[in-house]
Amino acid sequence: MKDAFGRTITYLRVSVTDRCDFRCTYCMSEDMSFLPRQEILSFEEMDRICTAFIRRGVTKIRLTGGEPLVRHGIINLIEKLSRHLKTGDLKELTLTTNGSQLTKYADKLVELGVRRINVSLDTLDSDRFTEITRFGKLDKVLAGLQAAKNAGLKVKLNTVALKGQTDQELDDLLTFVADNGFDLTFIETMPLGEIGGSRVDHYLPLSEVRDRISQRWTLSDTDYATGGPARYVDVKETGNRIGFITPMSHGFCESCNRMRLTCKGVLYMCLGQDNNLDLREVVRASESNEPLQHAIDTALNLKPKGHEFIIDESEDGPALNRHMSVTGG
Ligand code: GTP
Ligand code: 5AD
Ligand code: SF4
Repeated sequence: MKDAFGRTITYLRVSVTDRCDFRCTYCMSEDMSFLPRQEILSFEEMDRICTAFIRRGVTKIRLTGGEPLVRHGIINLIEKLSRHLKTGDLKELTLTTNGSQLTKYADKLVELGVRRINVSLDTLDSDRFTEITRFGKLDKVLAGLQAAKNAGLKVKLNTVALKGQTDQELDDLLTFVADNGFDLTFIETMPLGEIGGSRVDHYLPLSEVRDRISQRWTLSDTDYATGGPARYVDVKETGNRIGFITPMSHGFCESCNRMRLTCKGVLYMCLGQDNNLDLREVVRASESNEPLQHAIDTALNLKPKGHEFIIDESEDGPALNRHMSVTGG
């Protein structure tokens, strides 16, 4: 599947629910409202769409949200999709999770063929954790990480870089991932959806994060790649890796290999641009997979050259009035 700019699409990110048990300040407002259940795709519909993508050459599927593990019966979807791992058509089935449900699910995920997960964790300080996530409990996430490790899952932590917060604990984060054998990526905040406040105040460019880390740790560039947007460095002292996801300061769109399916069945060709195509209507209109394949090909041609984020939001709100939790990170 090649788009109009010659990029090959092999990676589908699927938001399985817009709901979450946390309300991270950079992601949601405190009184966030969620979609009515009838608007959300059923697992059968998600499976049909994912399977159509696999037929067109997608080899990596990542379930996201919201929090994917709070969707009731989520294991049924993972089980359905895992049949494509067995045939070898799908190379990777994975998740991005806030970690709160991992004590319950880690073993089952491994049993179904998940090998690697990304866990969002912005701080190791429990007061700051409550401040950022509003409803989250750090102990629960740390227990989830331990469960993932015990189950044999490879873990990458995702830390959104927040000025005045992340910069206070870089050494603690690096030591924590080194002690646990995890990788770590930092992410610049992106203006997606209304959060009930401005993001400009807490935007922290990752060049600053890298500079600060370099003062204490020896970093060297590496070609290591996971098919995601992070650029990685090796950390000499610990032997593990740190990644930087820099949509705001240093774009990576020229090598984009992804599309996104929202929990409502809308296909977005880019996280930070509005071209989209409603696959829910297509999937509900016909039992035949042909219209679906056709719609995917049409969508492919709508993939833009790059995203349109701006960090300096006007008073009218964010550039894109769509939350990451609906779109799937
Ligand atoms: P790996 O498979 O481990 O490389 O993961 P990944 O980076 O593809 O997935 P993850 O869910 O960990 O993504 C981390 C964050 O990177 C996302 O939540 C987004 O914030 C950001 N991200 C991923 N893909 C894109 C993209 O295409 N555009 C932009 N702007 N940000 C992206
Ligand atoms: N900007 C950057 N990252 C975000 N995430 C959620 N909202 C934003 C945002 N506005 C992160 C989460 C998680 C991943 C799926 O996306 O922390 O790591
Ligand atoms: Fe939930 Fe992730 Fe958004 Fe936090 S960033 S509220 S954990 S979806």
